Amino acid sequence: MPLSGSRRQKARGQGASKVRPLPKKRVCAPGALEAADAASGEQLRTSDCWIANESCFSFLPKVPKASVDLVLTDPPYVISRQTGFESCVNGESRFAVSMDFGEWDRAFTEDDLKRSIREFYRVLRPGGTCVVWFDLWKLTPLKAALEDAGFKQCRLIEWIKTNPVPLNSKRNYLTNAREVAVLAVKGGSPTFNAEYHDGVYRHPIYQGQDRCHPTQKPTALFKELIEVHSEPDDVVLDAFLGGGTTAHAARDTGRKFAGCERDPLYYRFSAARVLGDHEGMSAAKTAVKEAAARRKEAAA
Ligand SMILES: C[S@@+](CC[C@H](N)C(=O)[O-])C[C@H]1O[C@@H](n2cnc3c(N)ncnc32)[C@H](O)[C@@H]1O
Repeated sequence: MPLSGSRRQKARGQGASKVRPLPKKRVCAPGALEAADAASGEQLRTSDCWIANESCFSFLPKVPKASVDLVLTDPPYVISRQTGFESCVNGESRFAVSMDFGEWDRAFTEDDLKRSIREFYRVLRPGGTCVVWFDLWKLTPLKAALEDAGFKQCRLIEWIKTNPVPLNSKRNYLTNAREVAVLAVKGGSPTFNAEYHDGVYRHPIYQGQDRCHPTQKPTALFKELIEVHSEPDDVVLDAFLGGGTTAHAARDTGRKFAGCERDPLYYRFSAARVLGDHEGMSAAKTAVKEAAARRKEAAA
């Protein structure tokens, strides 16, 4: 049995949010979730969720062909650099901006992106949708990579941050208010619970307690995207979990989830977040901060 749920029996437009706590029992339903058996690192498996601490290049080949309904993913943007605004901007430290996200961003290449996109195409069912967030200035190579893999109907999605971080407002009046994703479809008839949509989603940058990753996306944004592009019980996949936003949003919208994260500390945070384990989340956050402080000290 594929990982896919009973999406097509369900009428379009019935994707209303529902919070469904995951069962604590770590058992797998028959199907693709069982493919986790060969995983090497730490992993969390329930009947609705399989997440693993490993690279997408070892994880994705274990996901059966055509077993996923929606890929919603946010790979490294390959943009880490020094901004010169790391500690203070316009005299205010709260406006400090760092574009050096760390090794996880520097180590990823555009060839890695192409490789993962070919795997997304393989694991998606015909008619499945793929949404890839990426650097605004690199959309042309992203679109080309999607089309080379076989995807059709590339369209743009924008996230407008309703509380953007001011950059250097003395030099430029424009804030950094926009992030973009390319949406593409694997042939067939895709699921979309919307009509005449401009593809613009407005949400604030999330600053709450369960923020751990430097580029963590707002859960509200990912919940909205999941509800528009899939049905309850469908399978959502994210191979670059970061702080686990896609897994969390899939759980809260009643979807199944499969995904991985290479970094052990972000993986731990994601797993604790999916389980609603606040102590685990806070321990992982502390470990992330300590590791960052050690790296900074070593670099000084
Ligand atoms: C842009 S972040 C994802 C942020 C996420 N959307 C969130 O809301 O927290 C990308 C993540 O991909 C992870 N990553 C980088 N290379 C990877 C790989 N080969 N396999 C799996 N994860 C990888 C990084 O460690 C990083 O946490």
